Amino acid sequence: MKRLLSGLRPTGKIHIGNLYGALSNWVKLQEEYRCFYEVADWHALTTAYQDTSNLRSLIKETVIDWISVGIDPEKSVLFVQSEVKEHAELHLLFSMLVTVSRLERNPTLKEMVRDMELQEQVSYGLLGYPVLQAADILIYRPDVVPIGEDQRAHLELTREIARRFNHLYGKVFPEPEPIFSSFPKVPGIDRRKMSKSYGNAIFVADEPDEIKKKVMQAFTDPEKIKKNDPGHPEGCVVFAYHQIFNPGVSELEKECKRGNIGCVACKKRCAELMAKALEPYREKRRELEREDIEGILREGARRARVVAGETMEMVREAMRLW
Ligand code: TRP
Repeated sequence: MKRLLSGLRPTGKIHIGNLYGALSNWVKLQEEYRCFYEVADWHALTTAYQDTSNLRSLIKETVIDWISVGIDPEKSVLFVQSEVKEHAELHLLFSMLVTVSRLERNPTLKEMVRDMELQEQVSYGLLGYPVLQAADILIYRPDVVPIGEDQRAHLELTREIARRFNHLYGKVFPEPEPIFSSFPKVPGIDRRKMSKSYGNAIFVADEPDEIKKKVMQAFTDPEKIKKNDPGHPEGCVVFAYHQIFNPGVSELEKECKRGNIGCVACKKRCAELMAKALEPYREKRRELEREDIEGILREGARRARVVAGETMEMVREAMRLW
């Protein structure tokens, strides 16, 4: 079976944008590939290193969410980055193969500096973020890496590092290909990109009344004021949700355009369908709260270490290290 690696930082509860963007793809890919799914806790430290008091609980929440939506820890290797120390060793070796100016050109870093106003506060660790990511990926010598569009530049650097290493010391690494999810972006209830930090997210673990409250507040067609005004589903957030959760969406689209349904009724229908679709995940989550998550992660790390250990043997041999 071909190998696959992907990861996310442990930012806590996942929202429906994460679910229909990355995670549902991860779940499907388990059938086709031998998958390694990583909780990138060291990456989380590159920006949130000052207060680490809730890091452990964030990791646990993240893992519970992943398993509840269908990541199967028996099929896939599900692990926490910091439990596989080999990543740190490979990161150190890779750090010799990249120039500082190459890292300073990283568009994701530039964006972060701008959005978070970091300017003079970029740490050595944050600059090296994509080098650590390259180590995460290449240590499993995967064929493919499912990622979002925002990670494209990081994978490009990963491939450069693999090429450079192979050129200098002999071929150890593949140049993994990205897999981009084809699912359109899910908007937040205020129409911006769905993001936890914007406060516009619907979480997979939200209870039905919470879902209803959020959907009722969601942005709709500003030109549809009265119930019978014809609507314009294109820019409507609630319509975007119907496209995910409502099998009868094309009928609804006609009703809306003809002015046969008002926004309130449309939102209610949406909230009900969403709550129903997410119910199995909430159920699974309740079960998981009683499970030994740490045990699952320990076992995942053990399996990850087998492959990571093999790669490091090859690396030390190729580099003539002691
Ligand atoms: N940088 C990724 C993100 O923010 C997380 C990540 C860390 C990752 N290591 C990875 C993604 C390896 C893919 C492969 O989403």
